[in-house]
Amino acid sequence: MTADVILSVADVQVAFKVGGIGRRQSILGVAGVSFDVRRGETFALVGESGSGKTTLARAVNGLQTIAEGRITIEGQRVDGLGKGAMKPIRKRMSMMFQDPVGSLSPRMTVGDLVTEPFRIHGADGRNLRDETQRLLSLVGLPVDFANRYPHQLSGGQARRVGVARAIALDPALVIADEPTAGLDVSVQGEVLNLLNDLRQRLGLAMVIITHNLHIVHHVADQTAVMYLGRFVEKGRTEAVFDAPSHPYTAALLSANPEPDPDKAKDRIALPAEVPSLLARPTGCEFHTRCPWAQDRCRTEAPKPIEIDGRAVACHFPLDPGARPPDSWKASA
Ligand SMILES: Nc1ncnc2c1ncn2[C@@H]1O[C@H](COP(=O)(O)OP(=O)(O)O)[C@@H](O)[C@H]1O
Ligand code: SF4
Ligand SMILES: [Mg+2]
Repeated sequence: MTADVILSVADVQVAFKVGGIGRRQSILGVAGVSFDVRRGETFALVGESGSGKTTLARAVNGLQTIAEGRITIEGQRVDGLGKGAMKPIRKRMSMMFQDPVGSLSPRMTVGDLVTEPFRIHGADGRNLRDETQRLLSLVGLPVDFANRYPHQLSGGQARRVGVARAIALDPALVIADEPTAGLDVSVQGEVLNLLNDLRQRLGLAMVIITHNLHIVHHVADQTAVMYLGRFVEKGRTEAVFDAPSHPYTAALLSANPEPDPDKAKDRIALPAEVPSLLARPTGCEFHTRCPWAQDRCRTEAPKPIEIDGRAVACHFPLDPGARPPDSWKASA
């Protein structure tokens, strides 16, 4: 492992027990994933709701125990550590949870919110008033916002407060779970630009989680596309966008409004139902929704293969510019 690898996740699985007494079953919310994030790099984790993104982030954060695998932060193995041993590592990473306003305590001022990490982890002699000013200016909020309460903030401003809290202790790693959810499109761009700017200025390693691939196109170095707890495609973001090799990646990309009417005709209509984790499909787990599925896909699980610097788990990876079969096109 090279020195600048900040986060290393290797073969991680997360299991949940579900069902009542006598009907208890184990499901895998994360079913064996691996990736590294280096200093100054953004890694995007993309997939539909329920694909396991938040569970994986919680595992990295130590909020969720893992069943298998290894998680290493700045060279130190962190999975399985107790609360006490985890505390100094928590200073080195922070997680921005979904829901900008709801995750801020309504009775705390912005000033108290952005300096709360110091009250939890110790201020090391720092002047909290100075820290408030430093943090608000880093996230582009006026200093007098320190006296405001969360309900007085717009969605974008609340997200900036969340970012200030996340960077307060100069972490090495920031994980942002759906950082732009619920925001207007223009504000989404502002929040992403802010995260991107801070990543560069502070040399952060960053993980951005989103269900919308387009959100991370211009800010992520690496992108992993997750389906039912596994990575189906992982690699350099440009490659993933320019020529998606996995049908699921292509479907996710085409699920977004396409301004070009010629291309809109070729949008892939993904059937709505994501399979239940209690009944994972045989063979390739995407075969029940894949426009290109063939007999082999129903029986044999594809192993990831290397294509143009990407790992792709598909028996029949797409050629660049592949178009879906007519029967699967969304009606224009
Ligand atoms: N505590 C839990 N108990 C049982 N199942 C869970 C639990 N947490 C998450 N899951 C399941 O794990 C899967 C992944 O969930 P999640 O990580 O929240 O997905 P995402 O963030 O990609 O939307 C979902 O099927 C979800 O229902
Ligand atoms: S293996 Fe088959 S079903 Fe799975 S994504 Fe590839 S073509 Fe589709
Ligand atoms: Mg989630």
